[in-house]
Amino acid sequence: MRLDKLLSITGTATRSEAKRAIRRGAVRIGQAVATRADTDVDPERDTVLYEGRPVVYRRYTYILLNKPEGVVSATDDPRERTVLDLLPEELRRLSLFPCGRLDKNTLGLVLLTDNGALAHSLLSPKHHVSKEYYFRCQAPMTEREAAMFRQGLTLEDGYVTKPADIRLLGDGTEGYITLVEGKYHQIKRMLQALDNKIVYLERIRFANLSLGEHAPERGEWRFLTEEEVSSLEALADTQDI
Ligand code: URA
Repeated sequence: MRLDKLLSITGTATRSEAKRAIRRGAVRIGQAVATRADTDVDPERDTVLYEGRPVVYRRYTYILLNKPEGVVSATDDPRERTVLDLLPEELRRLSLFPCGRLDKNTLGLVLLTDNGALAHSLLSPKHHVSKEYYFRCQAPMTEREAAMFRQGLTLEDGYVTKPADIRLLGDGTEGYITLVEGKYHQIKRMLQALDNKIVYLERIRFANLSLGEHAPERGEWRFLTEEEVSSLEALADTQDI
């Protein structure tokens, strides 16, 4: 792999920052100072130092994206802007895909990865990975309806949802919902089953990842931290999450 690619996909530096750092002599491969951005490196074997700090290479890439409205959770689309279109060129060239889908008008946390086995495991129905959403709806929800949410609701096609957690705020037109499954348009259909309608939906947590303090701005992204990757991998390995 090219040295500048390694630096960019590990989040160490953009390609142009990498080129400037190489010109200043700030990048080393083992004992040798790197002189060219296109030097071939073996990320599994070579020790690369960027400004004295080791570059940590992972076989897979994990990105937390804060999806804006109007963008589709797909890898490519003939008409619509996709979540991958929000990434820089060098990351678009990796085989990243969204781990689970959000509707075009739903905002918030999307995990992008090229680790198919991990995504498969996290999305598997037998692994009840939880996802939390902030919502606003048209008409106030009552505590009785919230209790129906917690028990499981029958959708228009007869499907009975798994118990979902719900916490209403204020007059009941907003709150937080936690699902352990991900059926098509699930929250919208759950509200429909109560003759109500979602007017705003934002995912704020997926498994152990949340749009908390270190959330990227809407439309922006960041690499997962080492701790986030390790705990996601541990979660995906567990038989019963
Ligand atoms: N439920 C929905 O209805 N839409 C989403 O995007 C996610 C959950």
